[in-house]
Amino acid sequence: MKKILIDCDPGIDDALAITLAHGSAELEILGITTVGGNVSLPKTTANALRLREFLGFPEVPVVPGSPGALLRPTIDAAEVHGDSGLGETRLPPPTLPPADGHAVDFIIDTLASAPGEISLVAIGPLTNIALAVRKEPRLVEWAREFVILGGSYTRGNFSPAAEFNIAADPEAAAIVFSAGWTVTMIGLDVSRTALATMAVVDRMREMGRLGSDLLVPCAEFYGMVTASDGPAIHDACAIAYLIDPTLIEIQQAVVQVETMGRFTSGMTVVDFHLGDRAPNALVGTSIDTGRFWDLMLGTYAQVAAT
Ligand code: BDR
Ligand code: CA
Repeated sequence: MKKILIDCDPGIDDALAITLAHGSAELEILGITTVGGNVSLPKTTANALRLREFLGFPEVPVVPGSPGALLRPTIDAAEVHGDSGLGETRLPPPTLPPADGHAVDFIIDTLASAPGEISLVAIGPLTNIALAVRKEPRLVEWAREFVILGGSYTRGNFSPAAEFNIAADPEAAAIVFSAGWTVTMIGLDVSRTALATMAVVDRMREMGRLGSDLLVPCAEFYGMVTASDGPAIHDACAIAYLIDPTLIEIQQAVVQVETMGRFTSGMTVVDFHLGDRAPNALVGTSIDTGRFWDLMLGTYAQVAAT
């Protein structure tokens, strides 16, 4: 079983990603750290706590981290994820508090406890990860692998050039990409093809309370405000990659983050032509959507049955 630590900003697709990670027999969640992103830090933390209780893994620590970007005014995506961050889902408020301490220290301490064994996955803005690698540069050696949902080598969703998680904190992303590890970047080029179509949502309807209280309201709310073919469940692609890397084609690249551009701030500039440069990233280029949805729905069905 692969041990993972999830840094996130739930967020509708974060919630669907956490549900996948929780249900997977291949993964063990060691902790969930939160960052301000889709909605404010108090809300992303509350949503992580609500999910933890609803899904039933209260022993896993939820640790709050950074409320906003390192240098810039905070942005959010409440127009996409709803005021609460979880659309119109009605998960009860949490009864258990978050863990003491800060996400940055939790990330460092957790990876330090088992160097080379724990995979780190970030599905929100990269503020916590940037602070963690700056505070403890050995993190890049300790992580078994580091996977993000973020960026794009074609077009953005926050702006024509930039994907939301990178646009929310470009300086943090620049620190993370230049930290000396290989970033596995699953970006919009991949996640935009992983759509929760009507047929997918119909399967979710058959999944009891998991379907009626979480999956369907998430997908429907997200669907209303995103694509007409069904919403892209971005963050779940990064978790799916951790479960089964053969789902996603990847290619070595040099990735740099634009922090200065007047119109391109937050753009991931992805160069597949390495020349004599060492790659700093493995960039997702396509996903097998049929196998992706088999994994998602199969795992959700198992969670619903427990
Ligand atoms: C990413 O931005 C957020 O709104 C989603 O949760 C996802 O992490 C997609 O661009
Ligand atoms: Ca997210």
